[in-house]
Amino acid sequence: MAEKMRLDRLLSECGLGTRSEVKTYIKKGRVTVNGAAVKDNGLKVDLSDDVVTLNGRQVVYEKFRYFMLNKPQGCVSATRDGLSATVLDLLEGEITRDLFPVGRLDKDTEGFLLITNDGRLGHELLSPRKHVDKHYIACVSKPLSPDQLAEFREGVDIGDEKPTMSAGIRLIESGSEVELYTEMAEVAGISAEDFQAIYEVTLQEGRYHQVKRMFEVFGSKVEYLKRISMGEVVLDDSLEPGEYRKLTEEEVEALRRG
Ligand code: URA
Repeated sequence: MAEKMRLDRLLSECGLGTRSEVKTYIKKGRVTVNGAAVKDNGLKVDLSDDVVTLNGRQVVYEKFRYFMLNKPQGCVSATRDGLSATVLDLLEGEITRDLFPVGRLDKDTEGFLLITNDGRLGHELLSPRKHVDKHYIACVSKPLSPDQLAEFREGVDIGDEKPTMSAGIRLIESGSEVELYTEMAEVAGISAEDFQAIYEVTLQEGRYHQVKRMFEVFGSKVEYLKRISMGEVVLDDSLEPGEYRKLTEEEVEALRRG
């Protein structure tokens, strides 16, 4: 069935102005539907068929929007917070009313955060049953022994009802990677002297403080944590902490495939 929306709502949902601003544009004859100027704010527009323009430029409605944010330290992964800035505050100029972050990164964790209004995809990406890999870089105070690494991979009792699911862990050894992540940690205010090893950790679930709690079991403290990818989608390395961009269609498809 054709999906329809009021003309004034469509224009404001596309970020072209507040509801009252777009009503003024409509009144002034600056909006056309299928080539004819329209003065009725409440006209129901068919979202797949009707061609709407404002000031001669076609208006393209996107039902779902997807952003990749390089979350900086210091802001919270929530839509609202009484005290701290939220990740939505970083999406300046976007209509954020229906957007939410997919899962939480701790206030002091950086990196890939998907922000969307697609509740279904968000739910699927977080469901442990869907087995979507999330990759993290963790700079830790103490390296793990071979036995501890094996235990980490198998699943760790972190005090929850069930041990964690099996996880991936790889020591970062190559000089260029060590240099890259050490520099990222230093930019975030963590001195290279504060950590002794850097690991890439892969989880398919997202329990509260999970990476930190898994290392804690082995007496190792996570000093710096950054999520670098979700599923097949990797954080764009041109994004500085605090910057974001829209996902490409290919990236959205890759997330849908899981
Ligand atoms: N694990 C943590 O400990 N913190 C995060 O922010 C994400 C995963």
